[in-house]
Amino acid sequence: MTIPAELIQQLVKATHVAVLTGAGVSAESGVPTFRDAQTGLWAKYSPEELATPRAFRRNPRLVWEWYEWRRKLVANAKPNPAHLALAAMEKRFEQFHLITQNVDGLHQRAGSTAVIELHGNITRTKCFDEDTVVLNWPDTGDVPPKCPNCGGLLRPDVVWFEEAMPETEMNLATQASTNCDVFLSIGTSTVVYPAASLPFEALRSGAIVVEINPQSTSLTSHAHYVLQGKAGEMVPLLLAAL
Ligand code: OAD
Repeated sequence: MTIPAELIQQLVKATHVAVLTGAGVSAESGVPTFRDAQTGLWAKYSPEELATPRAFRRNPRLVWEWYEWRRKLVANAKPNPAHLALAAMEKRFEQFHLITQNVDGLHQRAGSTAVIELHGNITRTKCFDEDTVVLNWPDTGDVPPKCPNCGGLLRPDVVWFEEAMPETEMNLATQASTNCDVFLSIGTSTVVYPAASLPFEALRSGAIVVEINPQSTSLTSHAHYVLQGKAGEMVPLLLAAL
């Protein structure tokens, strides 16, 4: 696939680029997306049944173990060419904001610095009761472990269904989306709001909107450019054209 010449011209003259990534950008690193069928041990659960405060209250051990399984999977995953190209792209524009729905931290491991994590980060842990990040705790063998400060249960520092998004990050993401010249939406099914509203806010603000995804989504018919393919192939092509 070749990148349309007009898109390259728009990118070359852009001073402010905003990017929204979803699970698809980590698919080629071996991290399953949300809408992929859950594999193996977790096949009988859907994320919606595990990633909620209710599920955690009902069965904290199960939810903690599911995240432990995902933490290990992510720790063994490597940034792929899409992550690396986005990290390189950051240096090519006056303003560059990378907004991600992913909690795997692979953008940071690829070298991206301007990362806005809308849904938290699976490598961080917080107290369920105090909502404060906990960096370490005594290994008492409890599953989930207990907060050293209040004795409450520890949980992953990620946004669960039915939970509010982090306000600061959401405001930053909205500002970036409404003030950019070009908005790249990469590897997201564009179904989970409010993150999914960002490309439409960019459209309304007059930005050039580009979608990179092997499948079509609710954004596809509205985007100015649709690069139908894998992020690991398309994003390096965009970078090479700059
Ligand atoms: P999804 O699993 O909903 O969508 C993944 C998207 O990536 C799909 O549109 C796929 O077509 C696309 N895709 C798959 N492989 C790809 C590849 N190699 N390159 C590019 N795209 C590819 O994941 P998200 O859209 O990220 O929220 O889901 C959004 C949110 O829903 C997640 O952050 C999570 C989930 O519930 C919370 O956990 C709060």
